[in-house]
Amino acid sequence: MQINKIGIVGSGIMGSGIAEVAMLAGFEVVLRSRKQESAVSMVGAIERSLVRRVEKGRLEAQEAQDALSRLLATTEIDELVDCDLVIESVVEDLEVKRHLFDHLDRIVKPGAILATNTSTLPVVDLAAATRRPELVCGIHFFNPATVMGLVEIVRPITASDETIAAASAFVKKCAKDGVLVKDEAGFVVNALLFPYLNSAVKLLERGVATAEEIDRSMKLGCGFPMGPLALLDLVGLDTSVAILDALYREFGDVATLAAPTLRRKLAAGQLGKKTKRGFYDYH
Ligand code: CAA
Repeated sequence: MQINKIGIVGSGIMGSGIAEVAMLAGFEVVLRSRKQESAVSMVGAIERSLVRRVEKGRLEAQEAQDALSRLLATTEIDELVDCDLVIESVVEDLEVKRHLFDHLDRIVKPGAILATNTSTLPVVDLAAATRRPELVCGIHFFNPATVMGLVEIVRPITASDETIAAASAFVKKCAKDGVLVKDEAGFVVNALLFPYLNSAVKLLERGVATAEEIDRSMKLGCGFPMGPLALLDLVGLDTSVAILDALYREFGDVATLAAPTLRRKLAAGQLGKKTKRGFYDYH
């Protein structure tokens, strides 16, 4: 399977990060957003990020220009027709993703791989929504996608060896380290990370320490690059609750029952960095 052209569906931070990574790796990228404003703002975010790389002397101006020339941002889903690989990175909602996979299956050329960037939902459910289950897998990037070195390559029981080999080759060409994982909620990273993040919120609820102290403790006590509450803000509290709910549904482990504060903040629209308010304020 030769992969040259990548489609990305979804206009969040993950979608634009994955697009930037793929463009820089030399792939042609079609980035599909539902709204024109989102398409424009994603291109703006990618341009700014590339400019920063050039200013830091990590990329030649010409390379940034070439990368941008490989990007097409569109609101038309039909533009994905001739992509060799489409990566979906929309909201963590199984029904929304199932509907999208059914739609993608109808419009994207036969033989193309349809992948999901889901962090917890069963990939096999998305495969079953298509008539090409052997060509469906998970390609799970981490936030921020341009910085984090790992990608989990998720193998549902329906995927063919060729699909997994092609997904692994794509990840390698993106200069990321791929780990092949079973199609089980949370895979490796989120299965370990989210009970910990949830526990940090429970510590805060019990008043054991302030948010800043909890974060400082884990940075200085364990050498983590950021504290758990700041990381929840980075991932987004909506995504975090969706991940915890999916983990709880799959394993019934009380450690993954979302702490009440997470749901209260969600109801208040305090989703973290993206809404400028979560456990911290961002201005
Ligand atoms: N987008 C793009 N680049 C970013 C960025 C962002 N949001 N945040 C930081 N960077 C870049 C900076 O530009 C900088 O790049 P250079 O080295 O090229 O100059 C580099 O990252 C380091 O940034 P800073 O010096 O500003 O800050 P830092 O050293 O504190 O690093 C961090 C920031 C990379 C986010 C670091 O704190 C970190 O690694 N945190 C942990 C992140 C993490 O755990 N991610 C996984 C989340 S879980 C997940 O994603 C799975 C899921 O399904 C939800």
